[in-house]
Amino acid sequence: MKRSVQLREKQNNMTISIICTNKDPEPWVAALRALDPTLDVQIWPNESRKADVEFALCWNHPEGVLRDYPNLRCICSMGAGIDHLLNDEFFPKDLPVIRIIDPLLAQSMYEYLHTAVMYYFRDFDIYKTQQHQSNWKQQSPKKIAHTTIGVMGLGKLGEYSASKFSKIGFNVIGWSRTQKTITGVKSYAGDRQLGEFLSQVNILICLLPLTNETRGILNLENFNKLPFGACLVNVARGEHLIDEDLITALNEGQLRAACLDVFREEPLPQMHPFWQNKKILLTPHCSSITDPNSVAPQILKNYRLMKSGRALMNQVDAFRGY
Ligand code: NDP
Ligand code: OXD
Repeated sequence: MKRSVQLREKQNNMTISIICTNKDPEPWVAALRALDPTLDVQIWPNESRKADVEFALCWNHPEGVLRDYPNLRCICSMGAGIDHLLNDEFFPKDLPVIRIIDPLLAQSMYEYLHTAVMYYFRDFDIYKTQQHQSNWKQQSPKKIAHTTIGVMGLGKLGEYSASKFSKIGFNVIGWSRTQKTITGVKSYAGDRQLGEFLSQVNILICLLPLTNETRGILNLENFNKLPFGACLVNVARGEHLIDEDLITALNEGQLRAACLDVFREEPLPQMHPFWQNKKILLTPHCSSITDPNSVAPQILKNYRLMKSGRALMNQVDAFRGY
């Protein structure tokens, strides 16, 4: 093939690089290549030429590494959150950032939340403790309509779960930055309505993005606004939670129990007190794992939109942080 033709083909098909540290990149390469075998998909740190990379697909990339790609035009998160991108102080702020929005992700999150909510609603945590004490004692039954689920964050994931919980009979309220209209879900918005929202919640779910405004929002002051004995489910980010405040609230009984899927440091360090706390149920950041086969079409579409200079889908406002 003539050099000029080779060059033209190369220019038309520049590289997508998968830059991740704690995900296996191979299923992502396979999912993208299954859609388009001509795609040049490579894996950090072994790309043949960093200068060929235009599109980076990232999950917990090493800080500063994006500076190695002089021709990068777009950065895509391999999940819904983008905090892992913006946490990098050397992040190229002039580039568009896109994220994953996927019905499967929302459904999978709901399945996890449904399990956690039902565990507490049907007092399984209490029965587990009673079992260890050989204690045969029925807890008084509760009515689903008298149990209030409060969802912090009514975005793609929060809205989906909030609606589903409402449909199965829970009283559902939600809190977001801006007011929402969601059938069956009473909406509270902004810092001014946070206290009113919290004061009603029996099971609090955090589905907020991690931003400067939401970091540390699961703190003792806010726990004390909940009805005594409320339960917490945090599936958003570990940095939303002040770890010591959770232990205090659990010790005081202000919080009855907590189900945690995300942590400040992951994997959770072996010596962390959460491991041994009987009121905490832990899972390893698995509440909703992105399925490469499900999201490869939207990634490819965005790659093509980028190449043709058209508007991207699922672009986030990096300044706002989500
Ligand atoms: P979205 O961006 O779609 O929604 C974010 C929601 O949070 C919006 O309703 C927004 O309000 C609200 N919000 C943002 N900032 C504030 C604030 N300061 N005060 C009140 N509300 C605020 O996010 P997703 O639903 O897609 O995802 C949410 C998060 O879930 C992700 O960022 C990620 O951290 C986490 N996640 C965890 C997973 C896991 O496996 N554990 C899997 C996937 C996601 P408004 O609409 O008014 O702007
Ligand atoms: C996500 C996650 O943000 O898995 O998608 O945490």
